[in-house]
Amino acid sequence: MRVLVIGGAGYIGSHMVKRLGAAGFAVVTLDNLSSGRREAATYGEFVEGDLGDRDLLDDLFSAAKFDGVMHFAAHIEVAESVGNPEKYYRNNVASTLVLLEAMRAHSVNHLVFSSSAAVYGEPRRERIDENHPAEPVNPYGRSKLMVEHILRDFEAAYGLRSMRLRYFNAAGADPGGPIGPCHEPGTHLVPLVLRAASGRLPRITVFGVDYDTPDGTCVRDYVHVNDLCEAHMLALRALWDGAPGAAFNLGNGNGFSVLEVIKAARTVTGRPVPSRVAPRRPGDPARLVSDSTRAATELGWRPRHPELETIIAHAWGWERVLCARVDHASCH
Ligand code: UFG
Repeated sequence: MRVLVIGGAGYIGSHMVKRLGAAGFAVVTLDNLSSGRREAATYGEFVEGDLGDRDLLDDLFSAAKFDGVMHFAAHIEVAESVGNPEKYYRNNVASTLVLLEAMRAHSVNHLVFSSSAAVYGEPRRERIDENHPAEPVNPYGRSKLMVEHILRDFEAAYGLRSMRLRYFNAAGADPGGPIGPCHEPGTHLVPLVLRAASGRLPRITVFGVDYDTPDGTCVRDYVHVNDLCEAHMLALRALWDGAPGAAFNLGNGNGFSVLEVIKAARTVTGRPVPSRVAPRRPGDPARLVSDSTRAATELGWRPRHPELETIIAHAWGWERVLCARVDHASCH
């Protein structure tokens, strides 16, 4: 089986490329290297280019038959999407439409799409299942939801079936290396906390301690990147087995506050994690925790690393690699 991984040089995509390679699939990575790194795609063929380049897609789909496409190539920063929505709608929506047109033209009918918990907006329940209203509160979330709508329409009209995987907070790294979150400096909590532990960052900033949560900081559902990749494998196999397209939440169902993540990082690393408090970050919901029952029952998804400590320990392994790579003077 041959799979095209778009965004395979990025954080989650590079883990997927490795996983597909281990499973014996033929893999082609397409990545424009806007945030990914060439060397992160550790398996198969690499093509540098953009998913909105129709001529390039025609060449790729003409050169070989693809049994499926996995699409990770999106801009993902919520705050940036508020300031620069055009960038988000152009890449995340318009370029994805070019991909879908090309897939249709070449009869490539199976897609696994990286969606996000951001499609839900402000949560109305403790745990969010797929039937929760989808009312995104920022352009990033709206761009993901727009593509989900397009995918449903393409399935109904053209038979292009797709699994829409709604990630909660992806974290961790492959313990076998040599890959991890590659966007430096990045904005996500776990890599930044660990950077503060290693000394590459003077301190972690806690955005808001006045939320309506037990300790006042935001609560998130952290899910191991390799468990996300496993869900992609299951989703692709389900498409190959003839399953209709569907949306699936991917999270562990356990919420951890920012302060709990910092505490766990201190325990795992045995190092101090200096922190300071700052005002709330715009666009952050107080609590986002998944109900992933559908992925368990319909895909048979069983996360292998649901514990926060394991996720942080694996992310710490990657932080040590980065520390050695940059040979940072303050790295302990
Ligand atoms: N946080 C800090 N300090 C930091 C970084 C983050 O306190 O330096 C806090 C944030 O305010 C938030 C929590 O840590 O409360 C998690 O923040 P992340 O940036 O790690 O992740 P988000 O929850 O903002 O992002 C995730 C996904 C997005 C998705 C979003 C939906 O990564 O793709 O949830 O709200 F859009």
